[in-house]
Amino acid sequence: MIFINMKKKIAILISGRGSNMKAIVDNVKNGMLKDLCDVIVVFSNKKDAPGLVIAESFRLDTKVIESKGKKRSTYNKLLFDYLDELNPDYIILAGYMKILSSDVVQRFRNRIINIHPADTALHQGLHGYEWAFENKMEKTKVTVHFVNEGFDTGQVIAKKEVDISDCKTLEEVEQRGLAVEHVFYSECLKKILTTEHTENCRNI
Ligand code: GRF
Repeated sequence: MIFINMKKKIAILISGRGSNMKAIVDNVKNGMLKDLCDVIVVFSNKKDAPGLVIAESFRLDTKVIESKGKKRSTYNKLLFDYLDELNPDYIILAGYMKILSSDVVQRFRNRIINIHPADTALHQGLHGYEWAFENKMEKTKVTVHFVNEGFDTGQVIAKKEVDISDCKTLEEVEQRGLAVEHVFYSECLKKILTTEHTENCRNI
């Protein structure tokens, strides 16, 4: 009998805290992503990223290519070669703070996914929660999207509204938003891993 393993191989890229990575790994182990994928590596461009310690506590493989102190082209080449050989089905960005080179984007087109703490149509780049807080927004939207060559400009998979109208501090906004991210990212990944047609993801 031929056994076909339908589980997808995912590589999670982080640069820091790793709370989204932890939420995804929890769901792979015991939650909504169980039997859908395996986390084949947690990668960081920073050797002291706290998320690496979390990944190790889960006994996951980790990999570091330190970006600091390297020319961008050198780092990009090392990362491309690493990911090319690793050959994951999906690359999941979870607080990964570097822009991926176009080589990586082309090699894994429509298979790189990011979570952004704001509506990418309104705010791109860093500090999404600060932006919402400083603009006294009543609601913000977390966005999960495919990564293209632009800066938070890839095809939107889904957005989730977060009510922050009663948040008094930036910390409250972040906590409220992250709690949503931790569930919503896995919901989006589940949809992607269980459908051939990504256009359906808009209905998440
Ligand atoms: C999250 O807010 C995510 O939306 C953004 O970076 C932050 C990463 O947080 N891309 P963590 O490292 O997952 O805790």
